[in-house]
Amino acid sequence: MNISNINFKPGLEGIPVTKSSICEIDGVQGKLLYRGYDIEELAQKSSFLETAFLLIWGELPTVNELRNFEAEVQMHRRLSFRVRDMMKCFPSSGHPMDALQSSAASLGLFYSRRVIDDPKYVYKAVIRLIAKIPTMVAAFQLIRKGQDPIQPRDDLSYSSNFLYMLTEKEQDPLAAKVFDKCLILHAEHSLNASTFSARVTASTLTDPYAVVASAVGTLAGPLHGGANEDVIAMLENINTPDNAASFLKEALLTKRKIMGFGHREYKVKDPRATILQTLAEELFERFGKDEMYEVAKKLEEEAIPILGAKGIYPNVDYYSGLVYRKLGIPRDLFTPIFAISRVAGWLAHWREQLGANRIFRPSQIYTGSACRNWKPLDQR
Ligand code: ACO
Repeated sequence: MNISNINFKPGLEGIPVTKSSICEIDGVQGKLLYRGYDIEELAQKSSFLETAFLLIWGELPTVNELRNFEAEVQMHRRLSFRVRDMMKCFPSSGHPMDALQSSAASLGLFYSRRVIDDPKYVYKAVIRLIAKIPTMVAAFQLIRKGQDPIQPRDDLSYSSNFLYMLTEKEQDPLAAKVFDKCLILHAEHSLNASTFSARVTASTLTDPYAVVASAVGTLAGPLHGGANEDVIAMLENINTPDNAASFLKEALLTKRKIMGFGHREYKVKDPRATILQTLAEELFERFGKDEMYEVAKKLEEEAIPILGAKGIYPNVDYYSGLVYRKLGIPRDLFTPIFAISRVAGWLAHWREQLGANRIFRPSQIYTGSACRNWKPLDQR
């Protein structure tokens, strides 16, 4: 193929590389739909497991389907002692995303049938990944503190159980409800970098554990999953609402970005940021204020008249860190929590990719030297 007259787009910006019926983003109206359902309605009325089912299988589950799905996820939450033992060998100073990527990849060793055209295998792999990823995140948190991971509790819901395994305490139902909504909000967002990575890996027909492990590795980068950690650092640096205006002025003068602002897709406030802000307020009302929230609000108020004109508004990361912080979640677990949720989207894209697969193999524009002769060492 002659590619010399094809428009070169670094990062594939704006280039469609697949057809998908999973998620629709309207960046002008500030709307996000999963399989046609508005995220606002899902966050209000659905649960994470129901939303995951919807994303992966395409329709809302019936009562029986949901009951079975929840029961199967509950049954598969435990990790094999071999996986736990392997995790105990990880360095405690390692990043939890690296621990998660390695543990997720290891599932391919333990469940290695690789028959991705068998619907039973596909269903089981979906269940295992949704069920075990939270357990892995919580297990590494305890292991790195020198403790043994605690077993999941069957009497607790998906989100309550995760918070229990992480904090070793049964949490207030409001905390679990808010956490579950956060999982719904982060579950899917079309062809972002990690989802693209998942689809590329899926297109080679490898196993789903490799698909998810590659997506976790991609999510780990600071340009993708890590911005909510940076938002908290930025707010702490600003320290009080009175400093917000001068911080903004200085940042804009020196061309530094305001973390948690801006999005390729949204030219208005990200609908997820609006919902997360409400969730943060619910938590503050029940469990006490976070003074960084006042800083965030003031910075938003100061920034919108300036950045709004360029279509730059708060994105999903602006308020999510404040929610997680109030739930007692350590900062370096924010991205692993993103993975707990986004695995639903990755698996939906895995199935969709297999439904109409063509291996990804883009081309390049070669800029290296022309053909040349090898020289012996003493002549270089
Ligand atoms: N603060 C200040 N200015 C900004 C910001 C920001 N947060 N974001 C974009 N701009 C400005 C740029 O400086 C640039 O200005 P210029 O045209 O005068 O040079 C213009 O807007 C376009 O910026 P790009 O970086 O090219 O916009 P792009 O759409 O590629 O970037 C991105 C989107 C990466 C999210 C960017 O807004 C950003 O870096 N934001 C801060 C980090 C962040 O919050 N990331 C989380 C994204 S959500 C997620 O991944 C889950």
